[in-house]
Amino acid sequence: MDSKRLRIAMQKSGRLSQDSQELLKSCGFKINLREDRLIAHVENMPIDILRVRDDDIPGLVMDKVVDLGIVGENVLEETMLERQSQGLATAFKKLKDLDYGGCRLSLAIPREQEWTGVAALQGKKIATTYPHLLKRFLAEQGVTFKPVLLTGSVEVAPRAGLADAICDLVSSGATLEANGLKEVQVIYRSKATLIQADTELYPEKQKLVDRLLPRLEGMLQARE
Ligand code: PRP
Ligand code: ZN
Ligand code: MG
Repeated sequence: MDSKRLRIAMQKSGRLSQDSQELLKSCGFKINLREDRLIAHVENMPIDILRVRDDDIPGLVMDKVVDLGIVGENVLEETMLERQSQGLATAFKKLKDLDYGGCRLSLAIPREQEWTGVAALQGKKIATTYPHLLKRFLAEQGVTFKPVLLTGSVEVAPRAGLADAICDLVSSGATLEANGLKEVQVIYRSKATLIQADTELYPEKQKLVDRLLPRLEGMLQARE
């Protein structure tokens, strides 16, 4: 890869990918995003788009492997807590809060069960992709739990007998509904955000970022 080209990481497929693509296109990027390509070149600017799993984006920015990343705050915060626990670098610069990708990280339990509050989760198994955010929240309530780590299909865990409750992202609520679960407690609210690696960029790259940001801000304001 050409290190003189600005590298931006975004989600390949998922809640943020469509809106992120549209935002970049509205900034004037000419991109040919082919489903099977990890890297897409912006034709009219020295920019490469890396399309990866959303969960990998904060680490790529913190390791300075990419220059910019578009990511959900939930994934960003979880990655920071995880990397802190491992003694890895967690620095990054926040460039801009974006106006899409809104969702909440919530606890959910089987629909037919009565909910009496988080204290009832003491010692229970909770399936999640976000163990650090969950632990931080429940610790504040004096509750300890057994994490069951799943990176996908979290919503089937109670039915499969793997866990008593789940803690997962909720946007429309359709996934919970389809799996016989009900949202009982919001633990974190998230939106998409644009971040930059905490390092000095080549001057040409920094100039490009400086030119792109006002465009992005203009776009976001126009959508308000
Ligand atoms: C989240 C979550 C659910 C879905 C909920 O997945 O894990 O699968 O969104 O949305 P809904 O309330 O509108 O049904 P995400 O988009 O983060 O994808 P990923 O699990 O593949 O990372
Ligand atoms: Zn994800
Ligand atoms: Mg999911």
